[in-house]
Amino acid sequence: MIDRILLDEAKIAARLDALACEIDAAYAGGEIRAVGILKGSVFFLTDLLKRLKSPVSVDFIQVRSYAGTESSGNIQLIHDLSMDIEGKDVLVFEDVVDTGQTLRRMMDLLSARRPRSLRIAALLKKEIPENANLLVDYLGFTIGPEFVIGYGLDIDEKYRNLPYVAVWNPMK
Ligand code: PRP
Repeated sequence: MIDRILLDEAKIAARLDALACEIDAAYAGGEIRAVGILKGSVFFLTDLLKRLKSPVSVDFIQVRSYAGTESSGNIQLIHDLSMDIEGKDVLVFEDVVDTGQTLRRMMDLLSARRPRSLRIAALLKKEIPENANLLVDYLGFTIGPEFVIGYGLDIDEKYRNLPYVAVWNPMK
């Protein structure tokens, strides 16, 4: 099912090292409230947080987009945060920005809770017009429109635990 490895372990690790330095510098020792969007972000979040020198607290949130046309633009909360984020410096972790809908809705939901700051870290962003106006503060890699798996990304819940990001090929 794997067409080719797009980002191997060494390449991911080197990029995470650089991102961690950038984030530490930006927060200047202030506490970061890391918020992972379940489930895909877990691998990226844990590997990046282990590299940070800044004090960190961690929470998770899970959403699902409504399928019906009437509900489009809304998200259904499957699992909410366990802690209040008011006044906190929140850094949201996403594995991949595809259309950007998940993140846009997540940012609306979280900003209404009045964090002191709200930024985004994403491992991958697809270079497609749908997400062009969505700013990612800390981005791992820009990739093409291919379907990718591994390092948190799944197909039918499988392959999340691959240590690399690969292009999926259904014909193989
Ligand atoms: C995937 C991915 C992002 C979202 C990106 O989540 O993890 O959260 O889709 O797509 P978008 O930019 O078009 O909204 P999914 O709903 O598959 O859940 P998962 O993280 O549990 O795999």
